[in-house]
Amino acid sequence: MTPARRKTTRTGTRTRTLRVELGERSYPIHIGVDTLERAGRAISRCAPSSRAVVVTVPAVGRRYGARLERGLRGAGYRVRRITVPDGDASKSIRQLHGLWDQMIDFGADRNTPVIALGGGMVGDLAGFAAATYLRGVPFIQVPTTILAMADASIGGKVAINVPQGKNLVGAFYQPRMVWMDIATLHSLPKRQRAAGLAEVVKHGAIWDEAYFAGLERNTRGLLELDPGVLIPALSRSCEIKAQVVSEDETERGLRKLLNFGHTLAHAVETLGKYRGWVHGEAVSIGMRFAAERSEALGLAPAGTAVRIASLCEGLGLPTEMPNHPRKAYLQALRVDKKMSDSRIDFVALTGIGAARTVPLSPQEILRAPAKATRKKTGSKGTQRVVR
Ligand SMILES: NC(=O)c1ccc[n+]([C@@H]2O[C@H](COP(=O)([O-])OP(=O)(O)OC[C@H]3O[C@@H](n4cnc5c(N)ncnc54)[C@H](O)[C@@H]3O)[C@@H](O)[C@H]2O)c1
Ligand SMILES: [Zn+2]
Repeated sequence: MTPARRKTTRTGTRTRTLRVELGERSYPIHIGVDTLERAGRAISRCAPSSRAVVVTVPAVGRRYGARLERGLRGAGYRVRRITVPDGDASKSIRQLHGLWDQMIDFGADRNTPVIALGGGMVGDLAGFAAATYLRGVPFIQVPTTILAMADASIGGKVAINVPQGKNLVGAFYQPRMVWMDIATLHSLPKRQRAAGLAEVVKHGAIWDEAYFAGLERNTRGLLELDPGVLIPALSRSCEIKAQVVSEDETERGLRKLLNFGHTLAHAVETLGKYRGWVHGEAVSIGMRFAAERSEALGLAPAGTAVRIASLCEGLGLPTEMPNHPRKAYLQALRVDKKMSDSRIDFVALTGIGAARTVPLSPQEILRAPAKATRKKTGSKGTQRVVR
């Protein structure tokens, strides 16, 4: 795999372009404010064609579809918008089939780009349609949630859910371009903003202490979508994810570090099915837990978990493990699909900004965490720990 070479072009604080280096499949990530209408011209350079397909959900299409499509038409495309119902249930074979049908009906050919306008759900579904239609057509991500900007739109994993589990059928399929307009985030519910920021915290926690410290100083700017704070944060998060992905595109080793906090998060999500944890909230709980386990295993210095918990709480995220019987947690960990044999590659921190995997059984993962870090972490956003 081509080593990641990260090049960030700065054109003022309001626009940045990064590149994900994957040899022939390298692609740019563009981050800006109020740039939706300009996407069409950029798309026409990386996916020239007479037609374009936009896949979205009602809440996003209603607000942003027209602007994106105006730009596409201005760049010479005939546009077909396909709207799927909101919610993860739309990552289904039924909706995928619907997309294929509409693309055939529209006369989409090998060059017709499929443009995902929405959160991670739309990106995963539209991406899988792009990967499979005519054995692959150009795919463009226009993410509109923080989670999709910082995480789901980068890395080339696309998938649908089947009744047996989430993301069980999919592909590795890289987009031609990722176009982020952070102005679209203003309509995103506050809870979804915080949830997306959990993945941003994750990137700092596993990779870059200075970045993590910057997040600690700027929780307000992040939540208020201040471009001067959010654009550098998203671009650093994308750089980190891009670097990890460039070095391990198909998740054999390094990429596993991106699962930090996710082992327990999946269990929390499974067990709390009907109380509806948002994914990022479960990740926040999982990161605190994983950091505590890292300390208890003697891998991370004391204070690591408090720092994780303080930052997450400062962003309005929950960090307390929901009260389910230990047996239920064990059961949920056992069915985690990332488990190989009887052990799980548990992602532990070795400090803030560094991580490694440790093979652990579900019992070992759930061993009582060190009591010291279970105490209250203090007021919102405080940094009480100096290493
Ligand atoms: N491919 C990957 O690497 C990867 C990584 C992480 C998550 N995912 C997937 O991403 C999905 C979760 O992504 P998500 O959190 O973005 O969820 P989502 O796409 O369901 O969006 C969350 C909610 O926000 C709404 N929304 C989106 N943008 C909006 C905007 N700008 N204004 C107002 N409302 C808006 C949506 O309608 C939806 O109700 C899951 O399916 C998950 O499996 C994929
Ligand atoms: Zn996640």
